[in-house]
Amino acid sequence: MKKAAKITGIGGYVPTRVIKNTDLEKMLDTTDEWIQQRTGIVERHWATDDQGTSDLAVEAAKIAIQNAKIDVKQIDLIVVATSSPDMDLPGCASFVQAKLGLPGVPYFDIRQACSGFIYGVSLANQYLSSGVYKCALVVGAEIQSKALDKTPNGKGTSIIFADGAGAVILQATDVKDETKDPHILTTKLHADGAGAAELCIQAPGCGLGAERITHEMIDAGKIYPQMNGRLVFTHAVTKMPEVLGEALTEAKLTLSEVDMHFFHQANVRINQKICEDMGIPLERAHTTIQKFGNTTAATIPLGMYDAYQAGKLKNGMTISMVAFGAGFTWASALVRY
Ligand code: COA
Repeated sequence: MKKAAKITGIGGYVPTRVIKNTDLEKMLDTTDEWIQQRTGIVERHWATDDQGTSDLAVEAAKIAIQNAKIDVKQIDLIVVATSSPDMDLPGCASFVQAKLGLPGVPYFDIRQACSGFIYGVSLANQYLSSGVYKCALVVGAEIQSKALDKTPNGKGTSIIFADGAGAVILQATDVKDETKDPHILTTKLHADGAGAAELCIQAPGCGLGAERITHEMIDAGKIYPQMNGRLVFTHAVTKMPEVLGEALTEAKLTLSEVDMHFFHQANVRINQKICEDMGIPLERAHTTIQKFGNTTAATIPLGMYDAYQAGKLKNGMTISMVAFGAGFTWASALVRY
């Protein structure tokens, strides 16, 4: 019998404010047609002024807790993946912990951007499998909209990034039959810091000079995401299949044994290319980019919640999670749900 972790609850939340491509036409020098053709995005959600990232995280967490049929007090580990925390200090998870009323429970903030949720699942999985903790809340949550350049200068990035949160409850479990029992089969994590400058937000930060933030940095747009879109695209379509292949090899599974794929949603063309190259039927890749855009660390758990709500994600299914993002970082997980 093997000790492992299994997903017992999933939750998701998007703010009520919907921003359509046609709304962006008014701010950026872009068109609905360009955005749809180049990215697959039709609309996305942006937080209201009074919402912080931890608020979105808590909404998703509450649904996951209810879905897992646990008492919130059973949670003994919190992991929050985000690139857009409420504050630089302390971490976003401290606000999530306080809002859930869990004093004393340890938490981690994970900063691996689009791969952050899978990194978080991997971290929690190690603690649960080793018996240190029994019940973990892992959240991916983002408010990207407040850090976007909403002028024509931002048209290359502001069209894709969006807000949302997704969460899972992971509980320790004894696996009797590895071919049937729900559990995390494997996680694979990678990074290459040489790509850091290709997708980054430079300011505020301590790597730029005498001050973390200056008026000059703001005027120069260093507070907004800078992305070499084409380079990121080419890396994503190479690294995502590679890291999914690694997980399959380790779990001794074939692609045809995976019922549903949750790929990071940065651009529908990235995922179409991956499916084409690997021979994955498109309907096995759950797609949410058309309505949620790219919600960075929230994308994968939000997608899982979307599939769960639609009745597509069912117990007993084998699923994959695969992501590529800033850092560069890339990661995969295979899970029997
Ligand atoms: N509307 C209209 N035109 C736009 C535009 C927009 N929103 N954004 C860029 N353009 C124009 C550019 O000005 C450029 O025009 P030019 O040829 O006259 O110079 C042209 O379109 C091509 O620009 P480019 O930036 O090369 O576009 P692209 O085809 O690479 O598409 C992305 C941009 C962002 C959609 C695409 O690169 C992408 O999805 N990259 C991957 C993103 C990703 O995976 N991120 C990591 C995870 S967060």
